Amino acid sequence: MKKVIVAVLAVSYVIAAGQALRAGQAVDGQPRYTGDMNLVRPTDYREWTFISSGLGMTYTPPSTEAQTQTGPPTFGNVFVTPSSYRSFLQTGKWPDKTVFVLEFRTSGSDASINKAGRFQSDLLSVEAEVKDARFPDGWAFFNFGPAASLQDSAAPLPVSRGCVECHTAHTAVERTFVQFYPTLMDVARRKGTVKPGF
Ligand code: HEC
Repeated sequence: MKKVIVAVLAVSYVIAAGQALRAGQAVDGQPRYTGDMNLVRPTDYREWTFISSGLGMTYTPPSTEAQTQTGPPTFGNVFVTPSSYRSFLQTGKWPDKTVFVLEFRTSGSDASINKAGRFQSDLLSVEAEVKDARFPDGWAFFNFGPAASLQDSAAPLPVSRGCVECHTAHTAVERTFVQFYPTLMDVARRKGTVKPGF
């Protein structure tokens, strides 16, 4: 009887895990890959921990042509796997297998009862970043493309795309912009994990 129960539980677990995988959900907050390195786009990231959002953030001087903003400012929403968030609160560091999603949304104004200020609107694009020892550098960056044609998985971006460089040179904690996430910055200061020289 005991063996039967164990077998039934094992089968149920495999079925549940299989369903989660098909739905693009990270099992226990782990990143999922196709092939060896291509990250499967998490579809349930809106159930993860929301860290913060930036509005109309630009990273290069306004004079630079690439940065000329047309249209309304965009929101960037940052989400992280919940188990990694809890771990960061304890240690001020990100554990291996942490996944971050950066979701861009357009902003609106003067609609419904809103007169001033800006609210979030349509999805524009989705990017991700993982801390995972499977990558030579321990970290990797991904772009799933624009909302109209979101890819189900993406290959790690080459260093030439600039993600690694900016996320190495200008980040407060490891490869992440904790300086823009006020509650996490307090944790990092308390735990002494802010990078030396930041
Ligand atoms: C010139 C600097 C710069 C470059 C280049 C850059 N980022 Fe970022 N990234 C930022 C900043 C600043 C934030 C904080 C955003 C906020 O506060 O809303 C950020 C946040 C993120 C986050 C949320 C987690 C974190 O690290 O704080 C992800 C995911 C991310 N970027 C992915 C990418 C990807 C993928 C690329 C390459 C296609 C990229 N970034 C290129 C500056 C950069």
